[in-house]
Order: sequence, then structure tokens, then C-alpha cells
Amino acid sequence: MAFLVLLLLLNFVFNAINAQSTSTIIKPGSFLSPINNSYLLSHSGQFAFGFYRYKNGYSVGIWFENIRQKTIVWTANRDASPFPSDVTLVLTTEGTLIVRPKQGQDVLIADTSSDNVSRLATSASMLDSGNFVLLNSSGGIVWKSFDFPTDTILPGQRLAVTGKLVSSVAESDHGSGKFLILMRSDGNLVQYPVGAVLERGAAYWATNTFNAGYGVSLNLDGNGHLYLLNDTGFNIKSINTNYVNASGKSMYRATIDTDGIFRLYSHSSNRFDDWYTEWSSSNYRCDPLGLCSENSYCVMMDGEPVCQCPPHFDFINEKRKELGCRKNYSLVACDTRNG
Ligand SMILES: *[C@@H]1O[C@H](CO)[C@@H](O)[C@H](O)[C@H]1NC(C)=O
Ligand SMILES: *[C@@H]1O[C@H](CO)[C@@H](O)[C@H](O)[C@H]1NC(C)=O
Ligand SMILES: *[C@@H]1O[C@H](CO)[C@@H](O)[C@H](O)[C@H]1NC(C)=O
Ligand SMILES: *[C@@H]1O[C@H](CO)[C@@H](O)[C@H](O)[C@H]1NC(C)=O
Ligand SMILES: *[C@@H]1O[C@H](CO)[C@@H](O)[C@H](O)[C@H]1NC(C)=O
Ligand SMILES: *[C@@H]1O[C@H](CO)[C@@H](O)[C@H](O)[C@H]1NC(C)=O
Repeated sequence: MAFLVLLLLLNFVFNAINAQSTSTIIKPGSFLSPINNSYLLSHSGQFAFGFYRYKNGYSVGIWFENIRQKTIVWTANRDASPFPSDVTLVLTTEGTLIVRPKQGQDVLIADTSSDNVSRLATSASMLDSGNFVLLNSSGGIVWKSFDFPTDTILPGQRLAVTGKLVSSVAESDHGSGKFLILMRSDGNLVQYPVGAVLERGAAYWATNTFNAGYGVSLNLDGNGHLYLLNDTGFNIKSINTNYVNASGKSMYRATIDTDGIFRLYSHSSNRFDDWYTEWSSSNYRCDPLGLCSENSYCVMMDGEPVCQCPPHFDFINEKRKELGCRKNYSLVACDTRNG
């Protein structure tokens, strides 16, 4: 009982600290800053948009706010350096959403300034779907974060032709990592190591729908069903065929994880639960090509993928085994041994 009370109390304090803003809208004149008014919530409180801590500063992004594991699903300018604490995020009267530092250049988050006044943003809103949108004066959506995914799609979000998700560097670093999943224009959904030539030989997972025609997209619905639609709206492939229709889970996300595996996660309505893996592109965590670098190979040890060197090779850096191996003998030594 005492424990429960403590838990409730902690929960209350936690909410009180974090409930910095209940407004769901940004307009010219209002602003967010990392310190005072750091984010805005969607109507239900499920999602937040704003500043989150990153390295020694802050990034701008979207995250699940209503659960213990505050999971980041989108980051603006993910490879930019962190912002200091004295910046402000504002929507200008010219229709641009920017981060303005005390000194120096503004950083653009979203731009709707154009000659066409019907596409000019006059407000911004965090929707309950997890989509952060800019709206024109009559409430029409003129920009949406759903069009610029980073490593995650949410129910209702679509990965359109040539769209890609790129894994993050680490759980705590949402910069671009080593793996990507690409919706190719031939209809095939394929995973590659970043930087590899986008050929079939470099792929480590695919839906093999490469003759499905132009216009195929990856979709996730509110029941946790991941599937491919063709240009005329036909479901050409269910990716997780084992999904339970209307399973009653309250949240889903599909993420290409830092380890290169594409996973569908669900979360119950209990905020203290963890994400549950509904489906993954591979069950063998050494599958992603490029997990280990030159002259090394991947083995599973205690359920974790580990990079190893072949005989007579040493790690380039013993503390960072993913950097690969180099040979630790000299060719001169071979010469003297008569083969
Ligand atoms: C935060 O709010 C306090 C009080 O309203 C104000 O004195 C302070 O300057 C604000 N800080 C920033 C970074 O806006
Ligand atoms: C402005 O944008 C609207 C909506 O996107 C479009 O219907 C209209 O044709 C555009 N007007 C001009 C002049 O480009
Ligand atoms: C706002 O955008 C919608 C959708 O693009 C458009 O139909 C509408 O005309 C725009 N409103 C104004 C006032 O420009
Ligand atoms: C989509 O799939 C349906 C059913 O297989 C097919 O009839 C249709 O031609 C396809 N559309 C495109 C654009 O390929
Ligand atoms: C899931 O439910 C929808 C709507 O009730 C239905 O159209 C669809 O066929 C169902 N899918 C499966 C695999 O049962
Ligand atoms: C090469 O590796 C072996 C076994 O790991 C080690 O004993 C030896 O000292 C290494 N040689 C050099 C030149 O680093």
C-alpha cells in the first residue's frame, strides 16, 4: 500500500515537473525555449513536440510523452549539433518555423514561405497521431512531420516511393546511424547498410516485391498491421502476417533500430509497461550487413551480436570493436617461412 502511494506520488511529481505547456498550438508571437516552455503536448497528452536533451544541449523533436520510456520518434535536423539553452523556437510571420539563437544564424525547421499565400503557415499544432503540422489561416495542413520521417513511422504515416528510414546512432543519439530501409521505386522494400551501393548484393533484407510497379508505399495502421500498398491502393503484401486485428494495444511504432533490424513495437495503455516487439525483420541479430567493419565478422554471444577478428588479426581499437580488425603479422615474416 505504502509503495503504491509512493508510486502515485512520484507519478504526480513527475507529471508536475513535466507539464510545462498544455497549449497545442504555436502562433507568431509565442515561442518555445529549452528552459521555460520547452514543449507542447497533443490534445490527449500522448505526444509532445519541442526541445529534448541531447548531448550537452538540446534537439527539437517529437516523442511519446505519456509513457515512462519517453520514446523519440522524430528529430528535426538530426545531424546538426545540439542547441544551447538560450535559443527560442518561433513561427515567423513569413511562415517559417525556426530556432533562433541569441547570436548567429537562424536554423530552419520547416519552411512554408512561398509566393502562394494558401500555403503560408500561420500556426503549428501537435496532433494526437504524432504528426506535427503547420496550418494555414483556414486550418489546412501545409507542412507535416509525417512527410519527413527519421527512423520511425507511426500508425497513419506512410513511407512513400523513394522514402527511407535511417537508424539512429544510439538510443541516446538520434543522429543518422549505419542502416537504412528504403521504399524503392520498383516496389521493393529493402534494408541496406548506409553508404553501400544500393544493389541487391548489398541488401540484407527485402520484401521481394520488386515487380510490383511504381508507387508502392509502406503503411502502418492503428491495429499494428504493416503492409505495402500499390499506387491504386491494393494491399500487395502484408509484412507482419501474424498481426492480430484490433488487438487492443494502444500504441504502435515501426522503427529501424540502431542494430539495423526493422521492428514493429506495441505498447499497452499502462504507462509503466515497456515496448513489446510484435515483429522484426530478422531474428538473428548478426544479419544486418556492415554491423562489423573490415576484416571482422559477427557472432552471437549471450544474445548480443559481437564483432570478432579472424586468426592473426587484432582489433584496430580494442574498445570499439565495431571499427574492424587489421592483420597483426608482417608479410616479411611470411617470406622467411618457405610458404
Ligand atoms: C524564464 O522565465 C523567467 C520568469 O518568467 C524569466 O525571468 C527568464 O528570463 C526566462 N528564461 C528564459 C531563458 O526565457
Ligand atoms: C496555390 O496552392 C493551392 C493549394 O495548394 C493551389 O490549388 C493553387 O492552384 C495555387 N495557386 C498558385 C497561383 O500557384
Ligand atoms: C489552406 O489550405 C487548404 C488545403 O491546402 C486550402 O484548400 C485552403 O484554400 C487554404 N486556405 C487559405 C486561406 O489559403
Ligand atoms: C495494383 O494491384 C492490383 C491488384 O494486383 C492491380 O490490378 C493494379 O493494376 C495494381 N496497380 C498498379 C498501379 O500497379
Ligand atoms: C481486419 O479488420 C478489417 C476491418 O474490420 C478487415 O477489413 C480486414 O479484412 C481484417 N484483416 C484480417 C487479416 O483479418
Ligand atoms: C598478434 O596476435 C597474437 C594473438 O592474439 C598476439 O599474441 C601477438 O602478440 C600479436 N602480435 C602482434 C605483433 O601484435
